Amino acid sequence: KKPVIAIDGPSGSGKSTVSKTLATALESAYLDTGSMYRAATYAVIQAGVDTSDADQVVKTATGADLKFGTKPEDPFTVVGGEDASAAIRSEEVTAAVSAVASQPAVRENLIKMQRGIIAKAKSGIVVEGRDIAEVVAPDADLKVYLTADPAERARRRAAETDGDESSTQASIDKRDKADSKTTRPLEAPEGSHVIDSTELPIVEVVAKILALLNN
Ligand code: CDP
Repeated sequence: KKPVIAIDGPSGSGKSTVSKTLATALESAYLDTGSMYRAATYAVIQAGVDTSDADQVVKTATGADLKFGTKPEDPFTVVGGEDASAAIRSEEVTAAVSAVASQPAVRENLIKMQRGIIAKAKSGIVVEGRDIAEVVAPDADLKVYLTADPAERARRRAAETDGDESSTQASIDKRDKADSKTTRPLEAPEGSHVIDSTELPIVEVVAKILALLNN
């Protein structure tokens, strides 16, 4: 059976680039669970629901029509029939996502969807997120926890979003703190291989993971 690989880590740890590169190298599927929480959040915002209204958030997020591409070269996100791949990366979604992701019913719904996608991935799958090793796929064949120094994470994220470093640092800190109530973004789960990417280029991180897989 082709491997299920869990890649967990905080913002700016390099997990998306590493996960996509790894999936391409292995010719396997790719699932970005962060984009699923972002898509649910986008649906809530589009519906004009106040993110502090838990009942409406749960109702809208769990009722939304969401589709996700699992090819590493085109991991699209469709919300209500509309391509939302770019829209889910907006600042508005980023600022609201932790609140939506903290709703247990929202998580339950998305985790069920994630497990369904993983079960159907005949060519193996690389799954990235924050709770993959502990909750979504505890029986994954390989578990990696990717991390990097906070300043380096902010620098990378600022470069990706064309933002400035200090406001990006503040936004990441705020989200790490909010997320720590639902997932454990800053802690390596048990049984996972920790890779610090602060000074490691992507290709070397991927090479390390491939080496772990072949051991
Ligand atoms: O922008 P960044 O790469 O840091 O985040 P992301 O992977 O796109 O995830 C966005 C948000 O979704 C996180 O800040 C969490 O609130 C939530 N999330 C989660 O709760 N569980 C996951 N497995 C993945 C993401």
